[in-house]
Amino acid sequence: MKGETNWISRLVANHRPGFSLEQAFYTDPGIYERDLERAILPYWLFLGHQARISHPGDYFLVNVSGESIIVTRDGEGKIHALANVCRHRGSRICLQNEGYAKSFVCPYHAWAYASDGSLLAAKYMPADFDRSEFGLLSYPVQTIEGLIFTNLSDDPEPFDQVVKDGTEYLGLYGLADAKIASRMVWEVEANWKLVMENFRECYHCAPTHPEYCSVMEHGLGDESDMEFFNPDYATYDKEWRKQNHELGRLSGMPKRIGSHRHRCGRYPIQRGYLTQSEGGGSVAPLMGDFNDYDGGNTTLSIYPLHFTSACCDHATAFRFAPLEIQKTEVELTWLVARGAVEGRDYDVEKLTWMWQITTEQDKKIVDDNQSGVNSRSYRPGPLSKFETDMRTFLDWYLERIG
Ligand code: FES
Ligand code: FE
Repeated sequence: MKGETNWISRLVANHRPGFSLEQAFYTDPGIYERDLERAILPYWLFLGHQARISHPGDYFLVNVSGESIIVTRDGEGKIHALANVCRHRGSRICLQNEGYAKSFVCPYHAWAYASDGSLLAAKYMPADFDRSEFGLLSYPVQTIEGLIFTNLSDDPEPFDQVVKDGTEYLGLYGLADAKIASRMVWEVEANWKLVMENFRECYHCAPTHPEYCSVMEHGLGDESDMEFFNPDYATYDKEWRKQNHELGRLSGMPKRIGSHRHRCGRYPIQRGYLTQSEGGGSVAPLMGDFNDYDGGNTTLSIYPLHFTSACCDHATAFRFAPLEIQKTEVELTWLVARGAVEGRDYDVEKLTWMWQITTEQDKKIVDDNQSGVNSRSYRPGPLSKFETDMRTFLDWYLERIG
């Protein structure tokens, strides 16, 4: 069957709605290639927060399945996303994960590039060699409140509406001015879809994430359906929205907007909780335009690999990236107000408590999920009522690659 060119399309057509995917979607190299081509690379990818490159010459690397991107800030302060591939004979140029560089010198024959990607020097080239033709390939860059995105395809999906909505929802938090309080990276031994499926359902939250559930009402049900929540939460949600409306702030459950599959939402955490922390007490100084600990959580989700969650005193940005067919990188960046001082204004352990524990628990369950899916005994199984958002993700995915 795999020798036929359209066997993947046939597999997609045979998918049983309301069930998990066939094994091949998580194990077959041909499908992984198609995933990259159709479900990942056409979309805008989150790279990190601009505070990682606050000065000209600062840089960091991002890897998406072997595509290495150097994220830089040039002498004029402009951010670039450059292909980490030498224009001479293709060597990697930058081998360090992050740092400061006056220029990037290729380790092979020492071609030197500026932080905007232009070629500065190449020795012993013919007289007619034109340096201006051999700058590093450069990808488009867009930012949403300091969150940097790029697109590696020749024909990028439109992104303006995402920028507009993301800016509207996150604008309150002053994230463009934030500083990075902590950053952690995990490698999950699973196909990227298992990681994203897990992230898009909270059916597993009650059995797996006691800490998350102690904070987030959403851990106890499906966020698209109020009937699953504690009845008092619905009352509190109404009161909270009314207050926010009076303050001229946005509120409402996450809603999908547009064809790009992004969604924004802003809703209360739970009664008595000021922020996402153990017990709900504040963990850092107020950010942006806030003058009160408002107990709200704002989310921005951008298909397929980005999510940001913002509270009045800190925000957490998620970056997911497939590295190999069964290896996915998960990076969390915690942001606080720029003036906040570690030890005086915030404690990293308290700040990172909920999402760090939750991400470690997720890594464990998703590693085990992949291990089971790899077995000859795996069969697609039926989804619950709490897995609607995951089902939406699967529908989107199948449509992309079918
Ligand atoms: Fe980079 Fe030759 S490959 S200088
Ligand atoms: Fe989880």
